Amino acid sequence: MEIQRYNNTAILIHWLMAIMIFAMIGLGFYMVGLEKGSDERSWFFALHKSIGLTLALLALIRLVWKLSSIQPALPDYIAPLQRKMATATHHLLYLMMFIQPVSGYISSSFSGYKTKFWGIPLPHWGWKNPELNDLFTGIHEISAFCLILLLLLHIAGVIYHLYKKQTDLFKRMWFG
Ligand code: HEM
Ligand code: HEM
Repeated sequence: MEIQRYNNTAILIHWLMAIMIFAMIGLGFYMVGLEKGSDERSWFFALHKSIGLTLALLALIRLVWKLSSIQPALPDYIAPLQRKMATATHHLLYLMMFIQPVSGYISSSFSGYKTKFWGIPLPHWGWKNPELNDLFTGIHEISAFCLILLLLLHIAGVIYHLYKKQTDLFKRMWFG
């Protein structure tokens, strides 16, 4: 039977975002350990914010693309519970693709520093407010852990199907 694949745009955005999100998780944990007030810390924070806002734009494009294109049906052998779990994980991953950058952006807006996007200052609507900054930094941190858990679940699902020799599932999200 012919495999139903995601379209090439969906596949390209999936892998581009996957690489960027993994890099951002590493970058996030690395940069918070750098010495406060150092140039190195500011440089990495600025990079993290610019890549993060780019990811928010990509997530928006991805969502619009997903909603406006026909989704490939899963093969018949996938059990109903597995279908539900895969769909729930995918929906939650979409939610995190927005909560993660938005919480980071809001926390930054209450840090007292102007947020720049690849060097361009964004409208500075926030103000220095340590309580709100801490609240949204906390949300950003919790959401990073939720995102990591969901990714582990997502990757475990992929490995499970590969282990069961159901390789056509992986091919659905690969160029061909
Ligand atoms: C940050 C990393 C990742 C995110 C946010 C992510 C998110 C998603 C989402 C939301 C879908 C549903 C299709 C869509 O609407 O785009 C999906 C499908 C898929 N992902 Fe990922 N993914 C990530 C990393 C990975 C990795 C590392 C692998 C491989 C081990 C992988 C393999 C797949 C496969 C094979 C599918 C197709 C599932 C199906 O048959 O429906 N993903 N991914
Ligand atoms: C998908 C995109 C993003 C991912 C995966 C991500 C991930 C992370 C991670 C893992 C951390 C370290 C854990 C923590 O202390 O919270 C972190 C910290 C941080 N992120 Fe993000 N982030 C993203 C987007 C953004 C954006 C768009 C901004 C701001 C415009 C931002 C601002 C920050 C800041 C300021 C911190 C340091 C918080 C602190 O001082 O503890 N992030 N991020």
